Amino acid sequence: MNRAVVWHRSTVTRSDRERQNGHSGLILWFTGLSGAGKSTLANRVEESLFQSGCRTYVLDGDNVRHGLCSDLGFSTEDRQENIRRIGETAKLFWDAGIIVLTAFISPFRADREMVRGLVEPGEFIEVYCNTPLHVCERRDPKGLYQKARRGEISEFTGISSPYEVPRDPEIEVFTGRDGLEECAAAVVTYLRVHRKLPDIAGSPQKERERP
Ligand code: ADX
Repeated sequence: MNRAVVWHRSTVTRSDRERQNGHSGLILWFTGLSGAGKSTLANRVEESLFQSGCRTYVLDGDNVRHGLCSDLGFSTEDRQENIRRIGETAKLFWDAGIIVLTAFISPFRADREMVRGLVEPGEFIEVYCNTPLHVCERRDPKGLYQKARRGEISEFTGISSPYEVPRDPEIEVFTGRDGLEECAAAVVTYLRVHRKLPDIAGSPQKERERP
């Protein structure tokens, strides 16, 4: 880091922003194979949270790779850099008191754990979208598995590049077996049970918990 750069402390703090938003910032990190249903689920969960008054934003693999990460490919190093940038971006949203939902394969455990370490304990929630490879391959929404099998795409996750299954995700959803509504409800229920959301009456829990 450039030593001449001085960190500017803002006078409006994260807890001020969280109080105004009615909930704390969170990173909901959806991980899983290509075609597992990460983006669809992240968008469905966002819709539900948004409707209950939360401040939300989705960062999605295919979109980010057109902008912020358009210079990156799919080598191990590039995927690490992809997740590093996304992690730092997600942290900014978290700091703004927003619930940011990220949908990236993020195949490496160490990279996901690195992002977990960027925010407060309990505010990074790993959502493993568990769809077996053979189901993703059958779905093949972009025809990429077929190309990977033919050798037209190299380093394709699940085929010629590894995916490290989360060891202890906060949430595991069986996106190959269960319907979208069921999976989305499982995520929202987790958040409610762990008191991460404003209560139904709209009075923020953090406020009520204060002495
Ligand atoms: S990550 O591994 O760096 O987390 P990311 O989620 O951003 O990947 O991008 C994955 C998307 O890029 C896939 O859904 C697929 O559409 C596309 N893609 C293109 N080439 C590859 C590849 N070699 N491996 C995996 N996904 C690829």
